[in-house]
Amino acid sequence: MKFNILIISQLLVARSFAFLAAPASRTQSALYSSYASSSTQRRSDTFSDSELETAFFSIDVDSKGSIPRSAFGEAIADLGVDLSQVQLDLLFSKYDADKGGSIDLDEFKAMMSDPVLAGVTPQRDVKFAMDLFKRYDADNSGTIDKGEFRNIAREIQLDARRRSLFSVAAAAVGATVVADYSQEYQFSQKKFRSLYIEPKAEEAQKIAFPTAMLSSDMDEAIARTLYKRGFTPKNTIFAHSVCSDEVNNAPEQLLPLMVKRWEEGFSLGGLAGVPFSGKSGFQAYLHHVPDGGKLLIMFAPHVGIDAAGKIGALQRDGQVKVSSACGAAVGAYKVLQTNPSVASIPDVEDAPESFDPQLESIVKMLKPRLSGIEKAVDPITFVTYQLYAIIRDKICDCVSQTPELWEYTNEIALVGGIMINRHVGGDFFQPLSFESRTKDETGVKRTDLYQDAFGQTANLSNVLGSEDAVACLYNKK
Ligand SMILES: *[C@@H]1O[C@H](CO)[C@@H](O)[C@H](O)[C@H]1NC(C)=O
Repeated sequence: MKFNILIISQLLVARSFAFLAAPASRTQSALYSSYASSSTQRRSDTFSDSELETAFFSIDVDSKGSIPRSAFGEAIADLGVDLSQVQLDLLFSKYDADKGGSIDLDEFKAMMSDPVLAGVTPQRDVKFAMDLFKRYDADNSGTIDKGEFRNIAREIQLDARRRSLFSVAAAAVGATVVADYSQEYQFSQKKFRSLYIEPKAEEAQKIAFPTAMLSSDMDEAIARTLYKRGFTPKNTIFAHSVCSDEVNNAPEQLLPLMVKRWEEGFSLGGLAGVPFSGKSGFQAYLHHVPDGGKLLIMFAPHVGIDAAGKIGALQRDGQVKVSSACGAAVGAYKVLQTNPSVASIPDVEDAPESFDPQLESIVKMLKPRLSGIEKAVDPITFVTYQLYAIIRDKICDCVSQTPELWEYTNEIALVGGIMINRHVGGDFFQPLSFESRTKDETGVKRTDLYQDAFGQTANLSNVLGSEDAVACLYNKK
């Protein structure tokens, strides 16, 4: 269990910043202050009990409860202490109190206050991080991929004792309190990102989707804002309009996170995320809302970014070659490039042998939205933003053209944007709109929730190529 090595280094680093970091939640703050107060009461060069336990378990690879002589030298080196073989032997014999040939937890705690180890300093985090990285980079590729990362996540889950130590570490570094598997996963995902992200993909994403957030942050931001308005998993029915592509369904992506949080999910979307279930689908969803309850719809097209920074491409798990993402969006755009006259596309009934109703609809809806694409930073990026607008307009039509809506619910929240699929480092979401609609005697009231949930809106004029294109995207023309 080498994972904790990074935690030790984080603890050591955190000690220097312990009083600067602002706690983000009450639970975290409780953990945090117990950590912080214990660190004020001890000399800066000694370790707290939990730090010592964390260090011990990080060395006790096989969970045997002891460190054998054979692993001792490497363990001490991992702690950043450089000792000669003679010094190591002396240290081992001195603290192997029962002469059992190994060091157990209590012996380890006693040993760590030995003057020989007094020079242990926070600068060791780089060495720890790199050692850790090497251990998990199983194929020596220089990056940690999703499979390797899953192994790390799995290990964290193994042992409840380690998990509670991990919580202390999380609180100390000012991150989310670790309560269950998915949060642990998300926490470590953030902590490890800098070791395994693809720099070119990261760069391309910053340009095309300037204020994109990690899926887990997005899920939390939406929930935080809606909880304040009285949305709860019990009174809310969640629906989504996202592309059928399986990349949007991996456990750490926004869709499964939201389905888990809101405890179900009605699927409105088809290819490219367009709500192909139509008015009938929307009505079925509406009729399922709990009495006096609320509706929440998340809608988004998706787009991949590959390791070379190419937008609209994605390296999928288990495949070497890069494929299109979103395939339907890229496909529809290609149809329009080779055959701009969509009039020739036959209706389903006239040509059953070429049955492809969703893609044909996408082509027809996209066609009028391509003017100005040549000024955009990248054509597929432009197409993806247009798909967002197409989906939003269809969803808004469903809402405003269903007058009996208000017989079933007192509030509907709509959150939209673009899902960004990445091969490594977690998927992202570029939020573009978030609003709530309620009705009273005076009519339907719309409340913009974007700023409260996500902060500043992104400036897309460079991305889309003009202020006109931006106004068009936001329906302000
Ligand atoms: C957005 O960015 C462009 C180009 O950098 C700039 O000219 C424009 O004023 C910005 N718009 C807003 C609303 O900040």
